[in-house]
Amino acid sequence: QAAKTSTAASGSDSNKLITIGFSQVGAESDWRVANTASMKSALSEKNGFKLIFADAQQKQENQIKAVRDFISQDVDVIAIAPVTETGWETVLGEAKNAGIPVIIVDRMIKVSDDSLFSCWVGSDFQKEGVNAAEWLANYIKEKGKTETQNVVVLQGTIGSSAEIGRTKGFGETIKKYSNFKVLAQQTGEFTQAKGQEVMESFLKQYKDINVVVAQNDNMAFGAIDALKAAGKVPGKDVTIVSFDAVKAAFKSMMAGDMNVSVECNPLHGPRVAELAKKLMNKDKVEKIQYVDEKVYPAETAEKELPNRQY
Ligand code: AHR
Repeated sequence: QAAKTSTAASGSDSNKLITIGFSQVGAESDWRVANTASMKSALSEKNGFKLIFADAQQKQENQIKAVRDFISQDVDVIAIAPVTETGWETVLGEAKNAGIPVIIVDRMIKVSDDSLFSCWVGSDFQKEGVNAAEWLANYIKEKGKTETQNVVVLQGTIGSSAEIGRTKGFGETIKKYSNFKVLAQQTGEFTQAKGQEVMESFLKQYKDINVVVAQNDNMAFGAIDALKAAGKVPGKDVTIVSFDAVKAAFKSMMAGDMNVSVECNPLHGPRVAELAKKLMNKDKVEKIQYVDEKVYPAETAEKELPNRQY
């Protein structure tokens, strides 16, 4: 989809700013706070942008309203970190009719017509889930634990591609190992408070939980608090597998509470800035761009913490 040329220029060789509307999911996690900071710093006036930022408070309906506002303000580019994967056709059709290019960032969307967005950059959530399961299976094997491992999963926001990918990747992979049994999975909405609450209810329902898989670090922190309050020792009695690899997760691993965090990179600001400039210049952009991510087990935490940017 072609970018309008009337109001903006490249941002680097002109003093005209690119106006970009960014609809952010919310502020539910350390990851999200780092993502917002990255977007705000890269999409700054000094880099050639005028940013209009809208926090959706984890509600897709707020995002749809924000995108309509951006269209009525005739922004040059729209960026969306979508709460959920589906439900985007109508509003993206409106952006397309207005000739405004759309960059999807972080989570993915599912649309029947790919021309409704210009490009996407983010994480391979399913691969993260696979990596978590492979790490866990290997860790239990190396520890020589032969008894069945009972697993509970704290899922992220249901219907978000981060939740869908991690649930599928982890679930399908762990099934291949006969010494694991998933007892239950429930959403903790990617927040620490809800993660703690759901973990408390899991502890009431199941006496013999061996593994907690939290689909982000903040829910893992909540689960760790719930386990400690119930007299368990997270990191030892109960293996804690998490996602994101924010700084606080490295501290939790160093304290012995968390066993692993599978990285999810939130530093998308510079990538979105580059894509927006290319779109304004009518340069070709890659439609789908995955970022590189690693797995950080507890034994790497001390060495890695000083290198972490978020
Ligand atoms: O979409 C990325 C996910 O959203 C992160 O794992 C989580 O922390 C955030 O809320």
